[in-house]
Amino acid sequence: MKKYGKYAVLENVSLSLNPGEGIALLGENGSGKSTLLKILSGILAPDAGEVRIDGLSGKQAKEKIAYVPQDIVLFEELTVTENLYAWSSLRGRENTDRAEYLISELQMESFCKKRIDRLSGGQRRRVNLAAALMGNYSYMMLDEPLAGIDEQGLKCVAKLLKDEKEKGTAMIITEHNPTILLPLMDRTLRFDGGCLV
Ligand SMILES: Nc1ncnc2c1ncn2[C@@H]1O[C@H](COP(=O)(O)OP(=O)(O)O)[C@@H](O)[C@H]1O
Ligand SMILES: [Mg+2]
Repeated sequence: MKKYGKYAVLENVSLSLNPGEGIALLGENGSGKSTLLKILSGILAPDAGEVRIDGLSGKQAKEKIAYVPQDIVLFEELTVTENLYAWSSLRGRENTDRAEYLISELQMESFCKKRIDRLSGGQRRRVNLAAALMGNYSYMMLDEPLAGIDEQGLKCVAKLLKDEKEKGTAMIITEHNPTILLPLMDRTLRFDGGCLV
């Protein structure tokens, strides 16, 4: 459970994620999806209840999680490539091969030398995803990573997620359009009256 002032969300929410599993998390705006992913990623602390990740609390396990925020968090005046390097050094993974791999997988070659503030919404969304994947992680928490992405982008994100799953990364992903996600994930959970069903 999380309290925003007097207002509480995520009462009676319980879920478990198995190794290598993919869960699609659906629910109306305001149902608490983003709050749940922030708690699972160790960004927010719950006011009641607890998170256990490989025996650790959400905060302790932060390093193991690639968190892709719903809001774009990038350095606007840096280029795409510079953003990836900046995020990798923040996460302790100085790896140029990884940046090249993500630029290629997400088909960002044509705009990787541009500054973030010169990109389209869908291009920014791809960089936002790549930046989160510069760390060393075994879990991914993806908050609407497909928002505003075009057809070509959807295909490469889908392939990337499929490859990650095959490597054993477990993930929870929120999205409004379940038809894109369902084939990729093992289970679907939906918020209904504050509970997950
Ligand atoms: N920082 C905040 N301060 C106050 N209320 C918030 C804050 N973040 C989220 N909320 C409220 O909590 C509820 C759940 O929000 P959120 O987790 O973003 O839902 P979702 O991602 O499913 O749209 C909403 O009613 C929202 O207004
Ligand atoms: Mg949200």
